[in-house]
Amino acid sequence: MKSVTAVARPSLAFIKYWGKSPGGPANRPATPSLALTLEGITSTAEVCPSADGRDRVVLGGEEQPERRFAAFFDTLRAELKTDLRFAVTSANTFPTAAGLASSSSGFAALAAACATLARGQRPDDALLSRLARVGSGSACRAVYGGWTLWDAGAEAAQPLFEAGHWPELRVVLAAVHEGPKEHSSRDGMNSTAETSPFYPAWVADAPQLLNEARRALAARDLEAFGQAARKSYQRMFGTMLGADPPLIYWKPASLSLIRAAEDLRRQGLSVWETMDAGPQVKFLCTERDVPAVVEAIRQVLGPEGRWWVTQAGAGVEVRL
Ligand code: PMV
Repeated sequence: MKSVTAVARPSLAFIKYWGKSPGGPANRPATPSLALTLEGITSTAEVCPSADGRDRVVLGGEEQPERRFAAFFDTLRAELKTDLRFAVTSANTFPTAAGLASSSSGFAALAAACATLARGQRPDDALLSRLARVGSGSACRAVYGGWTLWDAGAEAAQPLFEAGHWPELRVVLAAVHEGPKEHSSRDGMNSTAETSPFYPAWVADAPQLLNEARRALAARDLEAFGQAARKSYQRMFGTMLGADPPLIYWKPASLSLIRAAEDLRRQGLSVWETMDAGPQVKFLCTERDVPAVVEAIRQVLGPEGRWWVTQAGAGVEVRL
């Protein structure tokens, strides 16, 4: 096999993973997360055997530092019992490392392409999910399409509902700032766990928020789902604010967009925002309310602002 290409979409969590389980295999979460894989933006990874015996990753035209990928490639080789070294060319159709979940789709595509190249055929999704997790926790969810669950302590995610479960839902991603974020989620999680007095409460509270969201998702109850999602992201940022030094990913426009979502709710629309380790704001709503959400984003970000309208998407695809 000369080369393998894989395409993956980002996994956006509505119940958030923030904090790692101590000890044991890397990147197992302290909190359960529930997420949707998004159609509309993608990461692609093309992989062939490396000619010079070194793993190489070129992302968006730029050669990446080897140490960022070392644990991932070493685990992959150990799991698949191969000595192969990989040369990867990867690209995203959206800003990288800015809090738009590019690491979830990036590592899902990378794991699928490399593992397929090493095996000579596509491995099962459970193995891909486990491998992708080592690169970036949220990537284990992006292996699957639709709605996914990643349990606290688990080494892989599991599919909950297919992409067609809630067809009228849309997610509008608003890019407040397109540069890379100031703190990686890895560093942010570690400093929160080590220094925030709120962290134990965040971890203890997470399972009941997950249950709320799961029930609402099964019933397709947007109001209840949105409220659970809002609590999850706000409490995640609450625990970060308690860190020393405090961790603040928001920009002024992030808060303006949160206020805009509140205004839309006051007008009777069911629009629910969420955020990740970056300043971007993501709006969950029905297809009918997308124009109102886009108009609100335009009001805050002005004519230069960028946004993407997405919906439930497919899991990782491999092209041989
Ligand atoms: O997968 P990571 O290490 O980039 O962490 C993702 C963390 C959040 O996006 C904030 C939450 C989540 O569950 O995706």
